[in-house]
Amino acid sequence: MSNYAIILAAGKGTRMKSDLPKVLHQVAGISMLEHVFRSVSAINPEKMVTVVGHQAELVQQVLGEQTEFVLQTEQLGTGHAVLMAEEQLAALEGQTLVIAGDTPLITGESLTALIDFHVSHKNVATILTAQADNPFGYGRIVRNQIDEVVKIVEQKDASDFEQQIKEINTGTYVFDNKRLFEALKNINTDNAQGEYYLTDVIGIFKEAGEKVGAYKLRDFNESLGVNDRLALATAEKVMRQRINQTHMLNGVTFINPEATYIDIDVEIAADVTLEANVVLKGQTKIASEAILTNGTVVVDSVIGQGSVITSSMIEQSQVGADVTIGPYAHIRPDSVLANKVHIGNFVEVKSSSIGENSKAGHLTYIGNADVGSDVNIGAGTITVNYDGQGKYATHVGKGAFIGSHSTLIAPLSVGDYALTAAGSVITDDVATDALALGRSRQVTKEGYATKFPHHPQQK
Ligand code: UD1
Ligand code: CA
Repeated sequence: MSNYAIILAAGKGTRMKSDLPKVLHQVAGISMLEHVFRSVSAINPEKMVTVVGHQAELVQQVLGEQTEFVLQTEQLGTGHAVLMAEEQLAALEGQTLVIAGDTPLITGESLTALIDFHVSHKNVATILTAQADNPFGYGRIVRNQIDEVVKIVEQKDASDFEQQIKEINTGTYVFDNKRLFEALKNINTDNAQGEYYLTDVIGIFKEAGEKVGAYKLRDFNESLGVNDRLALATAEKVMRQRINQTHMLNGVTFINPEATYIDIDVEIAADVTLEANVVLKGQTKIASEAILTNGTVVVDSVIGQGSVITSSMIEQSQVGADVTIGPYAHIRPDSVLANKVHIGNFVEVKSSSIGENSKAGHLTYIGNADVGSDVNIGAGTITVNYDGQGKYATHVGKGAFIGSHSTLIAPLSVGDYALTAAGSVITDDVATDALALGRSRQVTKEGYATKFPHHPQQK
């Protein structure tokens, strides 16, 4: 029988105290909703319907074409939210997974196991539950003397006795699809929150003598429902542990995994070493034997094999093999560094390509430039790429030697093997093999300093 899925993502998330809809808050670099979507994809649903409401357009953009959407204009409760998918689903044979968009830690494996359990037990409804040390805030699973699930009671509706129950509703369920939409016709708002609770269908099924079951997660962490920023930080921590463990098992050395922050889609080869406070974001890829020292931040970039990045920041750029960068360098977007490039301390590179074996060791700004191979860029060199209106390009040919503190005023081309004298302001193109001097001659006046008050002869 076919699988279908409904993701609930219409709520505002009042307890987050945020302008951003709750399900769009991020965990390890992607929204909670995308985490849920990825896990749901593991059950290969024939149809997936996401219920949106609060800031619907923003939420829809995140999942795009990957799911159908239905609009819940007023957030009247989780039961009402599911009912919004009636037109899309109610007539279909099969089972439907319902999951909340604020449970980012539930894995695809658990959802697959839940479906298998539901089907093999021929249940009408199966709840994904977990055992909580502190169940406060969750719906509780009420069982009878023979341990059958009877109903779910929400925190705000629970009696003192029911509040002692530690088995909680994760907010994920599998239902016989047709029976789900029939039962939803019978729920009401007669409860502490005045909402249509999805959880009420469990009691309805049970009273009708239908088979209801629970599949308990082994790991409570998976069930975490994020309602506020405290839980968001917990989700981030659990996800970080999972991600870092996976990389360690794949052969990556972490000096301090608790303080290493890696987004979910980052790829890291074996034999990479990551020191403390390394942050790897977005679509970053790190090749083998690279070493990233303390505090290095890499965003949407590729780092080549054996490169050593020392306490530096790299954004949207490509770094080749055996490159050395830092300490305290900033590689800004659209930069391409070839193999064996050396970028030293306090160097900024932006929208530039730097050829193999070229070096900029100290205090330099390279912007909108293409620099050939085997170029030496002296300390304090800057490309003057911006006149307040446009950006202009600088070309430096292979083997060129840019003297320290050269000011290269773009647009400018320096030919292959050309030299610029230290301290030059270079305004005109320099031909291949030429030496360019762009500075005034020094004037020295012998003995002149003795006339000044600081000099011993004046005291
Ligand atoms: C819900 C469950 C609770 C469970 C907990 C697990 C109900 C009544 N309660 O409570 O038993 O322990 O999840 O985390 O279902 N939503 C809509 N439309 C609405 C209301 C909610 O789309 O009208 C969405 C929210 O965006 C959210 C999800 O449904 O993604 C859950 O809603 P939330 O208000 O967080 O429910 P809880 O109070 O956490
Ligand atoms: Ca919740």
